[in-house]
Amino acid sequence: MPIFLLLITFSSLLSFTSTTTTSQDIATCLSSGNVLNFTTPSSASSTTTFNLILNFSIQNLRFSSPDLPKPAAIILPSTLPDLRAAVLCCRAASLSIRIRSGGHSYEGLSYLADHHTPFALIDMMNLNQVRLDAGSLTAWVQTGATLGETYYAIAESSDTLGFSAGSCPTVGSGGHIAGGGFGLLSRKYGLAADNIVDAILVDSSGRVLDRKSMGDDVFWAICGGGGGTEGGALSLHGVSSSSRFPKS
Ligand SMILES: *[C@@H]1O[C@H](CO)[C@@H](O)[C@H](O)[C@H]1NC(C)=O
Ligand SMILES: *[C@@H]1O[C@H](CO)[C@@H](O)[C@H](O)[C@H]1NC(C)=O
Repeated sequence: MPIFLLLITFSSLLSFTSTTTTSQDIATCLSSGNVLNFTTPSSASSTTTFNLILNFSIQNLRFSSPDLPKPAAIILPSTLPDLRAAVLCCRAASLSIRIRSGGHSYEGLSYLADHHTPFALIDMMNLNQVRLDAGSLTAWVQTGATLGETYYAIAESSDTLGFSAGSCPTVGSGGHIAGGGFGLLSRKYGLAADNIVDAILVDSSGRVLDRKSMGDDVFWAICGGGGGTEGGALSLHGVSSSSRFPKS
């Protein structure tokens, strides 16, 4: 059984404010919410850091072109309160949210928006913990953990457990599970999403929901309904998985 997920739902996207103003707005909001790790493109001194972090996991290089729209801020939460504050500040600044785990959306959905949609990127790389409970055969996996980090953590704690998911180690568990998650063990144990038993989700109002409180429809949407569905009532990217699979 499994592990958990940190998913995020968002809905709102509006506004056409200039990027500079929006970057300042969200920076002020994040600072007052004690979110320490974020970067904006607005000052010359931060541009290099901003570009490096933005480029870091863009897997489809076509989307790292300087001509494409860039986020007003890149936020790297490392705690649940950080994540909540990040979501609320994006809303307050009328920014659409893109959530990136491993950057393997080859359509660029986790780090791009169209030319008229101001957006912020929440990169989950610092939310990458994996906690295995061998007794219950489950693990909680934060959605920023890559598949490689997930498999490694499980293998360090157990010689017999594994998790059914993809074979590329740098894929983020959040996006992978949101889209289903097919891998070498799937024929016998199903998709990654089939093995998720619970999830923790921060919705667009900043509420922290678990499987029961989010309801069946939302749980379905984050566990195979497809990630990064822009404009939909909800988007998700979370992840986690579990394991109920003997390693064979
Ligand atoms: C922000 O997170 C990145 C990625 O883990 C890390 O390299 C960087 O040192 C962090 N910066 C701060 C200010 O915590
Ligand atoms: C990010 O990638 C683009 C395209 O590959 C490149 O033009 C740009 O210089 C890169 N920026 C950094 C800081 O590496």
